[in-house]
Amino acid sequence: MPGLFVAIEGIDGAGKTTVLERLARMLPGVCTTREPSGSPVGALIRSWVLQGGTVDPRVDALLFAADRIEHYKREIEPMLREGCTVISERYVESSIAYQGAAGVPVEFIKLVNSAVPRADLTVILDVDPGTALARIGRRDRAEKYERGDFLRRVREIYLMRAREEGYLVVDAGRPPLEVAREVAEIIASRLRLRTV
Ligand code: TYD
Repeated sequence: MPGLFVAIEGIDGAGKTTVLERLARMLPGVCTTREPSGSPVGALIRSWVLQGGTVDPRVDALLFAADRIEHYKREIEPMLREGCTVISERYVESSIAYQGAAGVPVEFIKLVNSAVPRADLTVILDVDPGTALARIGRRDRAEKYERGDFLRRVREIYLMRAREEGYLVVDAGRPPLEVAREVAEIIASRLRLRTV
């Protein structure tokens, strides 16, 4: 049986990286990955898009989608085929929330992402942008999207999508270990369901 595909979503500073690291230690058979990926398109996104180089947010949506198709085909799909529980830090919902908040119509974003399948489970780490930005403040310099007003819109879209699609929302204002325990329990119960 192919592995379970989990996407962990949330605004910058929600603690996704730390939670993913802990999940990989808590659960057996986990492969972690992230977007933007290590592909040349991912590198272009980091060096150009995230530094404010593009003039139209549709270009951002196209590049994130292109990176995602490469990421899915080259990394995610083979790991799932091997039976790994693949946990990706960010996936399609990042584009819907971020590029949507930047003004790209959701139908455009869905269309350019229609080449990749949905994740089996999407978990949104939800945190107040004030708390998130305070966390980011302790890291490197700010990237394009790391602004309070923008992240507030991104958060609203994530929460709206969670209501529409039934995604799980986890309170990420708590210590990462607590958040990781809750997410690990959710993933473990999904894995149990698949074996019965
Ligand atoms: P991030 O998770 O912050 O990576 P890093 O910690 O390496 O900087 O992701 C980079 C940024 O890209 C983040 O601000 C969210 C944004 N992003 C989008 O706008 N759309 C997308 O589809 C993805 C995957 C990321």
